[in-house]
Amino acid sequence: MVNVAHTLENLHTERRTFKPPASFAAHANATSYEYKKAGVDRLEYWREAALRLSWKTPFTEILDWSDAPVSRWFHDGTLNACDNAVDRHVREGRGDRVAFHFVGEPGDTQTLTYADMHVRVQQAANALVSLGLTKGDRVAIYLPQIPEAVVAMLACARIGAIHSVVFGGFSTESLRQRIDDAEAKLVITADGGNRRGQHLALKPLVDEALASHGEGSAHPGVCESVEHVLVVRRTGQDTAWVEGRDVWWHDAVDHQSAEHEPAWVEAEHPLFILYTSGTTGTPKGLFHSTGGYLTGVAHTHRIVFDLKPESDVYWCTADVGWVTGHSYIVYGPMTNGATQVLYEGTPNSPHEGRWWEIVEQYKVTILYTAPTAIRTFMKWGETIPNQYDLSSLRLLGSVGEPINPEAWMWYRRVIGGDRCPVVDTWWQTETGAIMISPLPGVTASKPGSAMTPVPGISIDVVDDAGRPVANGEGGYLVVTEPWPSMLRGIWGNRHRYVSTYWNHFDGLYFAGDGAKKDVDGDLWLLGRVDDVMNVSGHRLTTTEIEHALVAHPWVAEAAVVGAADEVTGQAVVAFVIVRSDADGIPADGDEVASALREHVRRQIGALAKPRTILVVAELPKTRSGKIMRRLLRDVAEHREVGDVTTLADSSVMDAIRSGLEGGA
Ligand code: WT7
Repeated sequence: MVNVAHTLENLHTERRTFKPPASFAAHANATSYEYKKAGVDRLEYWREAALRLSWKTPFTEILDWSDAPVSRWFHDGTLNACDNAVDRHVREGRGDRVAFHFVGEPGDTQTLTYADMHVRVQQAANALVSLGLTKGDRVAIYLPQIPEAVVAMLACARIGAIHSVVFGGFSTESLRQRIDDAEAKLVITADGGNRRGQHLALKPLVDEALASHGEGSAHPGVCESVEHVLVVRRTGQDTAWVEGRDVWWHDAVDHQSAEHEPAWVEAEHPLFILYTSGTTGTPKGLFHSTGGYLTGVAHTHRIVFDLKPESDVYWCTADVGWVTGHSYIVYGPMTNGATQVLYEGTPNSPHEGRWWEIVEQYKVTILYTAPTAIRTFMKWGETIPNQYDLSSLRLLGSVGEPINPEAWMWYRRVIGGDRCPVVDTWWQTETGAIMISPLPGVTASKPGSAMTPVPGISIDVVDDAGRPVANGEGGYLVVTEPWPSMLRGIWGNRHRYVSTYWNHFDGLYFAGDGAKKDVDGDLWLLGRVDDVMNVSGHRLTTTEIEHALVAHPWVAEAAVVGAADEVTGQAVVAFVIVRSDADGIPADGDEVASALREHVRRQIGALAKPRTILVVAELPKTRSGKIMRRLLRDVAEHREVGDVTTLADSSVMDAIRSGLEGGA
């Protein structure tokens, strides 16, 4: 937070704004009238947005807030998310439109029209039914970024099953926890995925997560809900097989009939669960509704990305394993009938121009990515994107963390050729859809600011007492009115939902972010105010990684902080105290550090691997025993250490400092 605020201070000395080009504004989906309409009657505004969906039974009530803070939107209507995302386009004569240009990392490609998707989702839905799945069952999806991931999600939605996608980069442990918490009946995975020219195995991690079944196991009773594992063949690598449990996707799906009547579900039927890091150790299974969620994502996708479905080629570079992929690859864009690029791989495989090659080849018009990627490209140098024809681009989006003005300007100039509006979109897994963003045909944007709430969304910045701050001041970001795509809760834990989001300020949704209103009232996001770190746009909690570290036999105590990092926004830095009596512990601190980094990777996943592990003799604590992470952050960011007067022993910081100067 400190560091981002610092960047913003610099910015407050300059007042550049970028107006939408007149030619863009003239054809934009959203004009300033959107704000006016939503301002006059918010609920009516959302009713009209919901009416753009295809409903089986129309709804009569817009919002029911009687069970606050759990909202119900459009609750007496019925619909199906897969029907909206796929069938409807075929029904209305758009079956020939390309839904996905899929690009595999090894260079394999597939073109899938909406009609092709229609066949696939129906076959997959029939396969799920034949495996015994029914409405309300949970399905864990652990797949690479391949078309089957989208098909699997939509097939679940089609039968009313609730998917829980687990990002392919998560470890066995994380997967086990998520399968178990949701009591998934089916796991859909692949033999492996492609990453930087390697085959990355997935199925063995599922096997390990489920092997904990049975007596004498390390995790008795865990994951016993799982009946089958459905396996997509992607890499062709050898895969162990559990007879009776494991089923190949091609065996189960390909021979199925391509006719399946969608399950018409009530608007409040849960569409999916998605786990995200909370401030305490265990990840929270956030769940979203069908009708309200779909309304929120389709509507924001139309107005923020200005989608013209007949002519645009839209590419969101996120993984479907994150909420960005759920909302802005699968449900929003497909409901709007978008033509998309879906790319399996990394930006530098096989070369650092890969993304720009894809933009050129498919004539991508709208690109949605994360600041960490932009900063990486800045580091690689502009001569790389300059080698490609990027003139098809007309709009650029950013999401995941605050975008620093330098990155914003670079993105606009080098990628957008100074002609594309840039939309910095603030939202969260919890909010389901974009909450704060410029409208590309309306807003004169400031580099680094997410600007204003989108029409229909009510947001404020408040002080410790929950009072709105004046322009020019900072505080906590809150949402002041319920919105259609808001989370409906934490799976199986209403109490945790209420206490995490609604107990900070009476009647206000607490986002966990700091924010500032500038003199014009525009919003600047300042990063998290809790123990949540943001590493490359991925959410991690300090406690989660500390738990993983202390689970290692060498570690007596651990403290983790998010330290500013030029490329990843924040980086994980861990301070550990080792047990001097531990068996086999290397004398060399570097060796200890690399073994512990590997341990964290196995426990949580590669994304949580600390950038730096420092072995220290003691940790700075208050007299009540609370670790003072603020001081450790000072050390990790090479700053003067701040106020140490509340430390139980003020010499601890000196010891840490001098220990570090000596090596490690
Ligand atoms: C947290 C939510 C939303 C999809 C990806 C992340 C940070 C997100 C921005 C932005 C500043 C941002 C916030 C938020 N964040 N977008 N445009 N500017 N910060 O979803 O994993 O639920 O993380 O990401 O801190 O609370 P998530």
